[in-house]
Amino acid sequence: AKGDMPTIDPLRIVAKEMKFLTGNIRKLLGSGHPSLDRAAKYYTQAEGKHVRPLIVLLMSQATALCPKAPQRQKATLQASAAIDSSLSPLSILSDFNPSASTPAEHDGSTTDPDILPSQRRLAEITELIHTASLLHDDVIDHSVSRRGSPSANLEFGNKMAVLAGDFLLGRASVALARLRHAEVVELLATVIANLVEGEFMQLKNTARDEKNPRWSEETLTYYLQKTYLKTASLISKSCRAAALLGGADAPTVEAAYVYGKNLGLAFQLVDDMLDYTRSERELGKPAGADLELGLATAPLLFAWKTMPELGALVGRKFEGEGDVARARDLVMQSDGIEQTRALAQEYVERAIAAISPFPDSEAKDGLIEMAVKTLKRNK
Ligand code: FPP
Ligand code: MG
Ligand code: MG
Repeated sequence: AKGDMPTIDPLRIVAKEMKFLTGNIRKLLGSGHPSLDRAAKYYTQAEGKHVRPLIVLLMSQATALCPKAPQRQKATLQASAAIDSSLSPLSILSDFNPSASTPAEHDGSTTDPDILPSQRRLAEITELIHTASLLHDDVIDHSVSRRGSPSANLEFGNKMAVLAGDFLLGRASVALARLRHAEVVELLATVIANLVEGEFMQLKNTARDEKNPRWSEETLTYYLQKTYLKTASLISKSCRAAALLGGADAPTVEAAYVYGKNLGLAFQLVDDMLDYTRSERELGKPAGADLELGLATAPLLFAWKTMPELGALVGRKFEGEGDVARARDLVMQSDGIEQTRALAQEYVERAIAAISPFPDSEAKDGLIEMAVKTLKRNK
């Protein structure tokens, strides 16, 4: 019977790897300047969900069993060697210190043989880039809370929060360069540009600036393109990078990418849905924030299709008297939430289908469970 199926816990599968994640990230962020050190490490204190590193580690383990591309082997060996020179020169100028090699600290001895040190480092880099984007995002969104605590901009002010984000990107770039894998560097550098492109697209709700825009198919295309850049690019390209570092063949690398892309799109659709359906207490960050910020996300875009009067509100970014409450009411009366959930479900199914050629493994089951959980999550 279905009820007898053992529940899969993706975190348990790579628990040994995840155990060192926050500690290693904090080592990557060490600065001799005490207040920069504090601001940079601030979002590593409250435990985040670590969705991206978890996916990278599961993908690394799942693709280890897939066919290899022969010409990649050398690059992988080089990357594994380079990774051992750990990044903890705590000089105030944060110099590149080639002699700061601390292999003993890099806890490679006790961890899963299927996951390479370079892939573990990649997991840390994805979390660094994500955290940098949150530091900047909370400034842009004037957010007051994150992960159940005051946001970094509230705690340290906008200037320090922005600089801390830049510092994270700098340290992520150094760690990335030390992987000695040019294609992986290119992928993650593109992600950083994509995050900014997505954020720019989001500043406008529609492709053209109009006072009274009308709904069209392009409305959804624009939103999905923005969503890819803002959220799915990091997940998809880091899945691709994980497969590349493991020396996987081209079809495996592509499958990893397609999994990450669809999972990322589903993840953000659910995020945009939760903004309507959950409270600040449940989310650990402000709820109902998107309309307040002038943003028309999937639930509203679906509502707009059948309620043309929303066009004027979208056009003025819900800045008119009572716009936010009216838009929220209309969305709740519509099937926008349901349609958003249905679209997220489609992406989840596509993500699972993408990795179906992978040989059966615990890690593959973990990736499937991550996709299923994306739909069920409530924070
Ligand atoms: C969270 O979205 C924010 C992002 C997914 C990306 C934000 C990107 C930037 C600010 C561009 C600059 C970043 C870098 C690293 C150069 P949200 O506001 O919808 O989510 P939230 O509810 O968690 O705040
Ligand atoms: Mg935000
Ligand atoms: Mg934002």
